[in-house]
Amino acid sequence: MTPIDPATALLPRFRDALGRAFGEEHAGADPMVRRSDRADLQVNVALGLGKKLGQPPRQVAEALVKALQVDDLVERIEIAGPGFLNMTLRADWLGAAADRALEDDRLGVPFAEKLDRVVIDYSSPNVAKEMHVGHLRSTVIGDALARTLGFLGHTILRQNHLGDWGTPFGMLIEHLLDLGESASAEVSVGELAAFYKAARSKFDSDPGFAERSRKRVVSLQGGDAETLRLWRILVDASQKYFEKVYALLGTQLVREDVCGESFYNPRLQPLAEELEREGKAQIDQGALCLFVPGFKNKDGSPLPLIVRKADGGFGYAATDLAGVRYRVGELHATRILVVVGAPQAQHLAMIFAGSRACGWLPENVRCEHVAFGSVLGTDKRMFRSRSGESARLIDLIEEAIDRARAEVEKRWPDIDPETKASMAKAVGVGAIKYADLSSDRVKDYVFDLDRMVQFEGNTGGYLQYAHARPRSILRKAGEDRPAGKISPTEKAERALVLELLSFGATVQAVGETLEPHRLCGYLYNLAARYNEFYDQCPVLKAEGEVRASRLRLCALTARTLEQGLSLLGIAAPDRM
Ligand code: ARG
Repeated sequence: MTPIDPATALLPRFRDALGRAFGEEHAGADPMVRRSDRADLQVNVALGLGKKLGQPPRQVAEALVKALQVDDLVERIEIAGPGFLNMTLRADWLGAAADRALEDDRLGVPFAEKLDRVVIDYSSPNVAKEMHVGHLRSTVIGDALARTLGFLGHTILRQNHLGDWGTPFGMLIEHLLDLGESASAEVSVGELAAFYKAARSKFDSDPGFAERSRKRVVSLQGGDAETLRLWRILVDASQKYFEKVYALLGTQLVREDVCGESFYNPRLQPLAEELEREGKAQIDQGALCLFVPGFKNKDGSPLPLIVRKADGGFGYAATDLAGVRYRVGELHATRILVVVGAPQAQHLAMIFAGSRACGWLPENVRCEHVAFGSVLGTDKRMFRSRSGESARLIDLIEEAIDRARAEVEKRWPDIDPETKASMAKAVGVGAIKYADLSSDRVKDYVFDLDRMVQFEGNTGGYLQYAHARPRSILRKAGEDRPAGKISPTEKAERALVLELLSFGATVQAVGETLEPHRLCGYLYNLAARYNEFYDQCPVLKAEGEVRASRLRLCALTARTLEQGLSLLGIAAPDRM
């Protein structure tokens, strides 16, 4: 099928023209087709090519225009400045492309050219510890990427790399025994932090308890059945709580996606022995170390990954090494994404480089750290709750819903309570997610609930409302799927169509760069173009073919906003 996106549709035309005008060796040059405020599309290839050919760029541009066969697509080409091509596209082509998008289930978005098996390691909270805002970021970003890559046709393997193993479980299990097993209920309702803190303080102050805890770690590692049973109780209770948070957020993670640190436990000893036997890792001060080329301490000495600690135990690095090996060797991943905070950058770079050095991460498997910045309070310091503790995620979400309820109440006092409640949830949760996704992922952002739940500005509520407006017009017209043809004649119609047609390219760019804020920016622009169209072009009052065309534009806008929000994991209610 001819691409919906005019820039993509033009690519083969440029390849032909470049070949004809300058020889086949130049056919592959990137024509650099871009949106521009001077034209529908601008093409910048003549500048670079001129340099290569030793010809004035304007002359190159002229030869290129002569060789181009684009009459069906382009109405007018002007050569501007040093040799830009400014192109005005044909309205009938734009209209027909928009019609094709509207008739297509996928809005004309093509599948990715090369389909991957993508492992996405995200959320990954720690058992018996409160999820903090960092886990919120991982959960929201990872879910958006999983949805987007899935939409592009890739196979998605979600991996919730739960922190469910290690020395703290000694004291946690002993604390559970002290309280009685039924105390695990408090963990499942979200009293994780209190439970952990109480265990910790006993561990620090009561030598008897500390001793019992240490012994308990030994039995846990030794696979003692009773200890494992108690451990399971804590893991289950925590998972129940995490699932509650996921349900509230609308996160797609399910129990089957959990593949926590404990999963790798039986693999660590054999892995360590293998690396030692094959001479890939060396004993250094009692610890088994994997020296990864290129990584150094501040003093210049080589910095190793600790595969096995001097006391024989295994840590975070060993598990992550085993994780890469499992994901490639058994899950057959061709792309691995690990969604964790930027401070873990060096650790992950070493894990990836170390895995390559050990031979279980082939060159053609892409491994990417999807890093993100910190969440700051309105005081620009690390985000904390009012009491100064690290905030409980579930409280934040509920507070966002409460504030959204107040906004909804203010704007639409007359709607029925049930609709109000569901709107408040959609807007509150959407507000948190959108604020997170719309900021450049690697940068810090300020968590400001007051701003997030507004319906003005670059917010989730603004986009949800922008989606509900064309839906409401379609309802009033009594047309869910209006028939007819899209013919953009007014300036605002053209601008809206051009924006609509670049949805696919935007989604594709998010799949490549793993930057959901590009999609947010796109949807925000789309909403702005729609609002201009709405102000300048009456829909319901128009007649005949003009009315049909505009109704179809409303339908395509609504569907594009809905699909875009859904890729971000944000609900798009039909009525607001
Ligand atoms: N549990 C870790 C944390 O809370 C995140 C784990 C991320 N995944 C990984 N494979 N290291 O920081």
